[in-house]
Amino acid sequence: MKPLLEVLKRIRKPAVYTSHQRRLSSCASSGLLTLPIRDEALIVGSSRELVQRLGSQVEVKTGFITEEEEGVFLAELEPGLKKKRYEFDHWDDAIHGYRETERAKWGAKCEEVLSRVRSVAFPEGSPLLGPVHILDLDKTGYIKPHIDSVKFCGSTIAGLSLLSDSIMRLVKEDATNEWLDLLLPRRSLYILRDQARFNFTHQILKDDESVFNGQRVPRLRRISVICRNLPM
Ligand code: OGA
Ligand code: MN
Repeated sequence: MKPLLEVLKRIRKPAVYTSHQRRLSSCASSGLLTLPIRDEALIVGSSRELVQRLGSQVEVKTGFITEEEEGVFLAELEPGLKKKRYEFDHWDDAIHGYRETERAKWGAKCEEVLSRVRSVAFPEGSPLLGPVHILDLDKTGYIKPHIDSVKFCGSTIAGLSLLSDSIMRLVKEDATNEWLDLLLPRRSLYILRDQARFNFTHQILKDDESVFNGQRVPRLRRISVICRNLPM
């Protein structure tokens, strides 16, 4: 087992929320507030104030990679992933139904995409976690609420989504009535920074809970390619 994966496994302890679902549906019936500054509303939340306040620390960039680039990533990643089995039964894991790996060396086309990710997501000169993290969620897999380790990861997390749309939910750690849902379309890039990264848990919803702003978003197998920086 490689060190980054060891670290991630230890630090992604699931947080437990019992009443969020209920609160969410009551919010839904009163009309969710969307962020209007993007071409499509990819972010909804518990209040307009929160969406605006956190909006600058959360980005979703639709169509960040082309279909062809997605194919190149898959061709590069599938052979290694296929050798692993999806893990379903570690009840204390933050992730259910997944396999993962990390990669430091990439072919030229992927490297080109990754440098695009780095240049839009991270402050110039910010030292990055060397290897890129690859997480392959089975169709039935999901990520429970957690906060990435502050000991090992810095202020910014940036992820490409391959193969499936999905919903990432952020919930304020000390005020669970404050939340944002991000629609992450296939081939988009999301970026979480600062408060959104440190003070909110993030999770990827399972297929049967995958509803964005009242709209069902089927969750298929999803591979994410995640870049992180180092703590200051
Ligand atoms: C993680 C995580 C999000 C994603 O691995 O810690 O939150 O997009 N992943 O897969
Ligand atoms: Mn995480």
